[in-house]
Amino acid sequence: MNAATTARTAVDHVNTPSPSKFLDLNMLVMCAEALSTAELQALLDRLDAEVRPYAARGRVADYIPGLATVDPSRFGIALATVDGEVLGSGDFETRFSIQSVSKAFALALVLAKDGDALWTRVGREPSGNPFNSLIQLENERGIPRNPFINAGALVVVDRMLSETGDAVGPLLDLLRAESGAHDITIDSEVARSEAAHGHRNAALAHFMASYGNLENPVATVLDHYVRHCAIAMSCRELAHAGLVLARHGVRTDGSQLLTRSEAKRINSVLLTCGTYDAAGDFAYRVGLPGKSGVGGGILTVIPGRGCLVVWGPALDRAGNSVAGVEALDRFTTVTGWSVF
Ligand code: DON
Repeated sequence: MNAATTARTAVDHVNTPSPSKFLDLNMLVMCAEALSTAELQALLDRLDAEVRPYAARGRVADYIPGLATVDPSRFGIALATVDGEVLGSGDFETRFSIQSVSKAFALALVLAKDGDALWTRVGREPSGNPFNSLIQLENERGIPRNPFINAGALVVVDRMLSETGDAVGPLLDLLRAESGAHDITIDSEVARSEAAHGHRNAALAHFMASYGNLENPVATVLDHYVRHCAIAMSCRELAHAGLVLARHGVRTDGSQLLTRSEAKRINSVLLTCGTYDAAGDFAYRVGLPGKSGVGGGILTVIPGRGCLVVWGPALDRAGNSVAGVEALDRFTTVTGWSVF
């Protein structure tokens, strides 16, 4: 598979099965508010067992060779609550390549520093196109549709570079501090592999530079971008880190990274754009703001309640984890913990 086809894999669209087949829905939804830790743990364990077979319906991303060797049958799920509890099941402590999940945190850093200035250079509308599409960018004169497609994320990285000359350090600092895992680092093999095969992103970056929408050299922007994507974290660590969005912008040390309004806006863009051309289906099935990555991770925010993260490397055609979306669908259906 090459960059032109990216993660559009051979999977057939997965229809949502009837949830009543797997749990006593009515009973659980009715007492969702009162779910005990033991009940939540039992639910995560059950989802782990139930969704693993879904990996067979997808394919691991191989347009970045460094990702192609990951075992597609791995699956992990972790829930971190705003009360400080962390539950998990399956491979929830195994680190994987967070890829585009990094884009949610990079956006948070730029909005925290710059406020609304970014929005003159990036839109906030769903793209309805694959995450690395060039077509829209030409029609829209170098302004990416949103910060979560690759072109938009390149602009976010560019902005971080203009602020401090380093887009990677501040992101690693944030992820380490919020997750409490100070050894989080970059998988340099994945970064090297993507840099060597990143023709599509290079085209996007040059294209935006031709419209004056990059302030830094294309090579520097690409280098920092691939290192964002190659950060390796576990579901547990990502769930901890994502709590900043569930706590309406409040960091783990009690300081405010984002205003409540900024956190709301990021969560809104996650809901409408975080899963690319599948964002409508994701909102329909899961009902939560979410950010996926071609490493198979998906981070979802349950505002005021917690952060739920899944990992399953086999992807659907849009580049989202097949088993992961299935687990999230089942979780929110059973618990009623969605934004709707
Ligand atoms: O730029 C790329 O293509 C990858 N480093 C990230 C893409 C990605 O994760 C999109 N996710 N679904």
